[in-house]
Amino acid sequence: MQKVAVIGAGTMGNGIAHVFAQNGYAVNLIDVSAAALEKAIQTISKNLDRQVAKGTVTEEQKAQTLANINPLASIPDGVREVSLVVEAATENVALKLKIFQDLDQHAHPDAILATNTSSISITKIAAATKRPAKVIGMHFMNPVPVMKLVEIINGYATDKSITQEIVALSEKLGKVPCVVNDYPGFIANRILMPMINEAIYSLFEGVAGVAEIDTVMKLGMAHPMGPLQLADFIGLDVCLSILNVLHDGFGNPKYAPCPLLVNMVTAGYLGAKSGEGFYKYT
Ligand code: CAA
Repeated sequence: MQKVAVIGAGTMGNGIAHVFAQNGYAVNLIDVSAAALEKAIQTISKNLDRQVAKGTVTEEQKAQTLANINPLASIPDGVREVSLVVEAATENVALKLKIFQDLDQHAHPDAILATNTSSISITKIAAATKRPAKVIGMHFMNPVPVMKLVEIINGYATDKSITQEIVALSEKLGKVPCVVNDYPGFIANRILMPMINEAIYSLFEGVAGVAEIDTVMKLGMAHPMGPLQLADFIGLDVCLSILNVLHDGFGNPKYAPCPLLVNMVTAGYLGAKSGEGFYKYT
């Protein structure tokens, strides 16, 4: 497997393209927005500069990594000759189902179709294609070049040989794969999001302030970021959407999103990307 396509040039898509390209894969990075593609290449270049400054990547390796990435606007052109597609588009069910129908139509019949979704059912996405056995979740964590985990999610019909191939591939990328099954939130977000929601409830109920809540979890539990800072980093809209998936999927009130989170998202306070969430960003 030497040629792959990544759909979506946002934060996750550019990180995924970065990691594949750095490990010698030719990457077609596909996005309908030319501006998003341009920004993605700049971000990858900037993140490679951090690695060069640290001495983990040479200038030559940086140049080769960038040369391995081919930005493209069209799915049919970008997926025709690849053996793996990793979809990292916006977390929207209708959009993902449409993308997977297109991928199924234009990618080689033997190609594996993976999705980086953080919470949409892999089984549902697979059912939009005629190759559900070759559809799998490949959930990278942000920032992708730094975080070691790849949560690999088997859909109901995913073939075991496909899972084995994606496990081996993740290891080749220097990541640590963890295979889980397809239930709401998988493992990462089933455990992370209730913690973030509980932190927001603690603030909402006046138990403590933002700084206190984050400091308790950073210094008391050795988390690199407190839960409120992490929520800002992930995006409060993304956190709300994942909590809704958990709430709807399990029908259990323990996953009900905190009203403060709902209000903040409604008001457009989405965290780092909007300039303000629990913290202000300049
Ligand atoms: N690309 C490449 N390298 C990067 C990077 C990027 N985008 N961002 C940070 N780095 C590197 C830095 O160069 C630095 O490297 P060294 O330590 O080797 O010098 C290292 O990462 C740490 O970065 P900083 O010193 O700038 O900052 P920091 O120490 O505060 O760490 C962090 C930043 C890595 C983001 C850290 O705060 C952290 O691990 N936070 C938690 C991240 C997390 O939980 N991610 C998962 C989110 S959930 C998700 O993604 C899935 C979902 O479905 C919602």
